[in-house]
Amino acid sequence: MCTKPYPLAKKTYEMFFESNLGDSGLFPGTVQLEKEVIQTLATLLHGENTVGFLVSGGTEANLMALLVARNTSRIEHPEVVLPQSAHFSFNKICNLLNLKPVYAGLDNDFRVDPTEVERCTSKHTVAIVGTAGTAELGVVDPIDKLSEIALRQGVYLHVDAAFGGLVIPFLMGFKPHFDFKIEGVKSITIDPHKMGMAAIPAGGILFKDAKALDLIKTETPYLTDRIQHTFVGTRSGSAVASVWAVFKALGREGYQKVVGFCMKNTNLLAEGVEKQGFKLVVEPTLNLVAFRSTNTKSLAEKLRAKGWFISYLPRYDCIRIVVMPHVKERHALAFLEDLCQIEKL
Ligand SMILES: Cc1ncc(COP(=O)(O)O)c(C=O)c1O
Repeated sequence: MCTKPYPLAKKTYEMFFESNLGDSGLFPGTVQLEKEVIQTLATLLHGENTVGFLVSGGTEANLMALLVARNTSRIEHPEVVLPQSAHFSFNKICNLLNLKPVYAGLDNDFRVDPTEVERCTSKHTVAIVGTAGTAELGVVDPIDKLSEIALRQGVYLHVDAAFGGLVIPFLMGFKPHFDFKIEGVKSITIDPHKMGMAAIPAGGILFKDAKALDLIKTETPYLTDRIQHTFVGTRSGSAVASVWAVFKALGREGYQKVVGFCMKNTNLLAEGVEKQGFKLVVEPTLNLVAFRSTNTKSLAEKLRAKGWFISYLPRYDCIRIVVMPHVKERHALAFLEDLCQIEKL
């Protein structure tokens, strides 16, 4: 779900090789760039007084969010309610933070079912998680409904928009609601190194309330800055500079074009596979196509043998293609051609 970085990202990355936000007092210029990037993301996500960081990726961003949630409530035997479709990073995080994952079932469109979420909450629940753009199917959970439950039960709500955060705001037409406009949303993961076209490692975490930071701070006695909030110590200033440069270069209009381009190729692929008699698992909301055949696993192997790097998802018995910005129309057409040839054999 990462793509070839925007050309300027590479150039800027090289200019900031020595910059380390783990000792931020030494690099005030990079600190300023990070502030500006977080402000841009906050504006995009309708946040006011929002605070945040660029971190190593979606995994670290989700970890920081659940650390805040756990430390906010300090409940014994803490549990987190996750959609069955949640990213596997949450398994690592639950393991690290000693949280018990409780999985809520999905509806017919593979979105988490709010009644299931309600059923899974208990006096031990410290957080509910929703995904805006699942890694497997690109589906957006009903965040507004999760917010109602979270507010009613006084529980923290985190939105994992690692992939969808830099797609949904730029969609033409229907844009599912998922951001800080929704009252219960306390934090959002949004990764510039995915659809932001910035250089790796550039995940993003934003918190609605600056007080969240007090719950995850660590003293750093011998550094220029006395406090750190991120999980990793040494932090790439290069990645921050690359995000800043891509944001400046592309702006909203640029991202609208990138997303429009990806969605055009997504629709081309989705229509093409359907025309050939394959079944879409779900109509694409984001730039992701998932489809099945009568023997999908074997089809996936044949496609791989022809050099197509597609994933096979055992959970849904389907082939998944993430239509990233480096995928051009000619690639989509060549894929459809190979698919047709394989099925004829
Ligand atoms: C929805 C979602 N969340 C979290 C992650 C984890 O991100 P990372 O691999 O950058 O740690 C991914 C990765 O694809 C993702 O799609």
